[in-house]
Amino acid sequence: EIKEDVAVCKLCSLCKNRTNTVFGDGPKNIDGKFSPPPILVIGEAPGADEDAQGLPFVGASGKLLDKMLMAIGLSRTTNCFIANMVKCRPTNNRNPQSSEIECCSHFLSEQIRLLRPKMILILGTVALKAMLKTSEGISHLHGKLFQYSSADGSLIPTIATYHPSALLRDENLKRPAWDDLKFFRAKMAELDVL
Ligand code: URA
Repeated sequence: EIKEDVAVCKLCSLCKNRTNTVFGDGPKNIDGKFSPPPILVIGEAPGADEDAQGLPFVGASGKLLDKMLMAIGLSRTTNCFIANMVKCRPTNNRNPQSSEIECCSHFLSEQIRLLRPKMILILGTVALKAMLKTSEGISHLHGKLFQYSSADGSLIPTIATYHPSALLRDENLKRPAWDDLKFFRAKMAELDVL
């Protein structure tokens, strides 16, 4: 139902230029049973490839994201759901504006309410600032453990790392991003989430 609501949403002007909305992607239901994956990964907004296919992280940064996840035992086909802060592509791949994030954030809150993830991995500054309601950027807050307060009052252990597209632009970020991922993997083991 949320996916259907997203598909017809006209709450902000991003709807005018979209080809497809990008709801999110995760393991398919098995035998018609919905068993939500334990990990939620949150990016920023769809780019051109995602807009064309209606799926998150399918372009160059998506290929890198899949490798990053695989390195810590995660994948969108088995144990994690991938979503974005904003469900429609901002033109020319600009950052989504805060008004667009505000218009769209109730969809992500609903996704979190239904998925009840055991841990959240945030990718990049835009999602970090919106999710944790902070003005500090990723260079200060990556690799630290936070508790995301979900709408139903539960606290979800959350760690942020660099966005894969930042890693494609700057090789020097790969080392700290790998440290963040190892920290995420250690927390998953400690909290027994997989
Ligand atoms: N970048 C994002 O933040 N999300 C996508 O889905 C693709 C690229």
